Amino acid sequence: MHDAEERYRDILEGLAVYFASPFVADVLATASRFAEPDLGGALNRNQITSKLWLADALAGAGGGRFGTVTVLGGWFGVLAAILLADRRLAIDSVVSVDIDPRCAAVARSMNASHGQRFSAVTADMLDYPYPDPRPGTAPDLVVNTACEHLPDFASWYGRIPRGQLLALQSNDYFAVAEHVNCVPDLEAFRRQAPLAETLFAGSRRHKKYTRFMLLGRK
Ligand SMILES: C[S@@+](CC[C@H](N)C(=O)[O-])C[C@H]1O[C@@H](n2cnc3c(N)ncnc32)[C@H](O)[C@@H]1O
Repeated sequence: MHDAEERYRDILEGLAVYFASPFVADVLATASRFAEPDLGGALNRNQITSKLWLADALAGAGGGRFGTVTVLGGWFGVLAAILLADRRLAIDSVVSVDIDPRCAAVARSMNASHGQRFSAVTADMLDYPYPDPRPGTAPDLVVNTACEHLPDFASWYGRIPRGQLLALQSNDYFAVAEHVNCVPDLEAFRRQAPLAETLFAGSRRHKKYTRFMLLGRK
């Protein structure tokens, strides 16, 4: 092991103990197990800030109690881990769906401390079966924080049943090649993903771009 690696491992191990944090312990175990270069990007300051912003909205406007949370474009499972560790939220289970087959194993490791409450699936969100909302139960939630990555957003949105509770994020970071569906502002995002009932709509400025978020029922 390099000196630098050993140093960061020591620091993360110490932080996991100090904060009594299964999240930090899972991050450390995952970083040790998987030589995945993009893991740093998935855990960087902007990513974590954006995920905490979503958790805040779910705990506030969203009411905090959910059945199954389906995270589309769930990447390495960081959002799932943040939501499952949040004491303000009561979530039965999280399913993380990503088209990239590299993601599921890393996401499972990132959520190891949540046991059966977490699962990861390799699938295209355009083919994924979205069941109708179940009345009389804790609301199931569909999360898509990768809206800017969808070339045919309208097709995906058309497959979501009416009445489904949704949490969506997009951004105006047009400079990134994979961002094929950015929106210039919050109003454009609202037009792209029209909601019958809006519980939260907001923008958050980062250094290089602005992120937009919508929470509500389709
Ligand atoms: C790089 S991440 C970042 C996206 C977003 N800004 C976030 O923080 O969640 C986008 C993820 O969406 C996934 N993705 C893109 N298109 C998808 C599709 N059609 N179905 C499922 N996952 C998809 C990619 O594989 C990638 O892991």
